[in-house]
Amino acid sequence: MRLLSVFQLTTNMMRGVVLLLVCWSALCAGDTPANCMYEDIRGTWTFYETERSGDNTINCDTLGPIVHTKTFTLSFPDTVMDELNNEGTWTMVWNQGFEVNINERSYFAFSDYEGNFGNAMSYCDRTSNGWSRDKTIRNWSCFVANKTTPVAPHPTRKMTVVESQLQQHYHNDHNMIHNINTMQTSWTAKAYPQHEKYTVQEMLNRGGGVASMLTSPPTPAPATPEQKARVSLLPDNFDWRDISGENYVTPVRDQGGCGSCYTFASMAQVEARIKIATNNQRTDVFSTQDVVSCSVLSQGCAGGFNFLIAGRYAQDQGLVAEECNTYTGNDDPCNTDTSCGRTYVSDYEYLGGYFGACNEEIMLQTLVENGPMSVSYMVYDDFHNYEGGIYHYTGMKNEFNPFENVNHAVLLVGYGVEPTTGEKFWIIKNSWSDTWGEDGYFRIRRGTNECGIESMAVEITAIP
Ligand SMILES: *[C@@H]1O[C@H](CO)[C@@H](O)[C@H](O)[C@H]1NC(C)=O
Ligand SMILES: *[C@@H]1O[C@H](CO)[C@@H](O)[C@H](O)[C@H]1NC(C)=O
Repeated sequence: MRLLSVFQLTTNMMRGVVLLLVCWSALCAGDTPANCMYEDIRGTWTFYETERSGDNTINCDTLGPIVHTKTFTLSFPDTVMDELNNEGTWTMVWNQGFEVNINERSYFAFSDYEGNFGNAMSYCDRTSNGWSRDKTIRNWSCFVANKTTPVAPHPTRKMTVVESQLQQHYHNDHNMIHNINTMQTSWTAKAYPQHEKYTVQEMLNRGGGVASMLTSPPTPAPATPEQKARVSLLPDNFDWRDISGENYVTPVRDQGGCGSCYTFASMAQVEARIKIATNNQRTDVFSTQDVVSCSVLSQGCAGGFNFLIAGRYAQDQGLVAEECNTYTGNDDPCNTDTSCGRTYVSDYEYLGGYFGACNEEIMLQTLVENGPMSVSYMVYDDFHNYEGGIYHYTGMKNEFNPFENVNHAVLLVGYGVEPTTGEKFWIIKNSWSDTWGEDGYFRIRRGTNECGIESMAVEITAIP
């Protein structure tokens, strides 16, 4: 209780980095500045698992007695094998942790670390307490895993922006905007006066939050001949907002100053998939606050990941309607109306099967065949001022605001080719209100992994 009031007080005073310092342990089980790479994780692990007696309300803050010990060997690219040579699959989740699926069970844990976003050590050869459950999602346990070969602890990248800078107000840099508009003709920039109500911290949050700043996205996988052949049959232009006059995308929202883009992108994906599956009979808007406040798989207003929310959270816990926990944009305690019905997904994956397997071709095909997908990309200084056109990073810096480059989650809804220049683009729904960009959407260069946009799409199957 005492901790909770400190938590609330701090949240009201200032969100973000200070909050992370205060609530590093039990309250924010998901907060993680861990920075673990594929080669750190690949190898042989011992999984220590508690009794399989829990349900999806299980609390793994403390572990309890270990009753199962398993050895899993994680190999390239996504194969896992146990001591009896049973096979399964695994994937990295960004640089934050990894998921293992084997013997009808799914395991996820964040990698271990000590410290906070200003200064942290990653311990990539061990996990924090994680969650394990069977295929039915009814049979749960907790676990922790240790790698059999040690990985030297390494310091994570420090934020270059200091606390006093984070609390400054954001300023539009009119000189930068002018330079963007004179140096190229593919897109136009403008000042958004409404951004100046936010602090630098909040603008960072709008772009993905500090949890996402620590690494670069993976490079796309080479397209197979089969992928290329299938893409050649697709239309040149495609947009889920207008399929023979029908719109399968829900309205653009505004995440405010909270680093909750990942939940807006995730909810938007499930919403679109439900609209498609029911031929627009269901037009749900799901609660993003439920995820911010209630999910142990995200970092609330400090960031999170589509794979864990559109995927694992929606499968494990299900999603509720917006009115069951209306959006406040704060790290409020969980108070979702428990009488609300829940909507689930039956399957999820990083497109291509694992983190690192994505590319333009498989995105095009899956987009057309299955529906909008949550994607992410790096937000650089110039992006905030996007007005319209086909975005690419100009390299321009905002001289007034010290920024980190963060990873922003959004919803891919379509693609096309600009008829006069032949420039290929993606059409993407943002969560910065419909007064930003092209009615809340933007287009970004396609086919060159611009800002990492072709590196980590998430695919789901929603259950209407
Ligand atoms: C969970 O599954 C295990 C087998 O993996 C079984 O022994 C156990 O009884 C199940 N627990 C519950 C609560 O159903
Ligand atoms: C995992 O490794 C850590 C650090 O080496 C150790 O403290 C811990 O006891 C190990 N966990 C188990 C369950 O053996």
